[in-house]
Amino acid sequence: MREGKRRVLTYGTFDLLHVGHVRLLERAAALGGELIVGVSTDDFNVIKGKRAQYSYGERAEIVAALRCVDEVIAEERWDQKADDIRRLNIDLLVMGSDWEGSAHFADLDGLCELVFLPRTEGISTTSIKDDLSKGA
Ligand code: CTP
Repeated sequence: MREGKRRVLTYGTFDLLHVGHVRLLERAAALGGELIVGVSTDDFNVIKGKRAQYSYGERAEIVAALRCVDEVIAEERWDQKADDIRRLNIDLLVMGSDWEGSAHFADLDGLCELVFLPRTEGISTTSIKDDLSKGA
C-alpha cells in the first residue's frame, strides 16, 4: 500500500459509461487514494439479470482508462467480496446508495469500512438504453 493512502474497492457493470459512473468512481477514489474497481463479467451480468451492450473486456478497458482508477478486477460472483477485501488489503468498500440494505453486503462487517454514496440523479445505463430505443 502506498504511504498514507487507503485502498478503496467498488463493484459495478459500468456499461455505456456515463457521468453517474464517473462521479461515483471519483468520489470513491477521493475517500482513499487508491481505487480498485470490480467490473462485472458478462456471465455475472446474466446472474444479475443484466445484459451489457459492451463486453466485459471493453468495459474493463474503459474503466481502467479513467484517471481515478488504479486497478480493475473481474467481478464474477456475489460471494467474492470478502476474499477480495482480504487479498487486496482493502480499507473501504464503496457502493452507490441503490445497494444500501442489500443482503450481498450484510456479512462484511469487521472486514473493512463500508460506505454507500448517493447516486447521481436522472441518469442510468437503463435510461440511456430506453431513450435510444425510443429515438429520444
Ligand atoms: N451509479 C451512480 N449514479 C448513477 C448511476 C450509477 O452513482 N446515476 C453508481 C451505482 O450506484 C453503482 C455504480 O455507479 O455503484 C455502477 O452502477 P451500474 O449498475 O453499472 O450503472 P447503472 O447506470 O445504475 O446501470 P443500470 O441502469 O443497468 O442499473
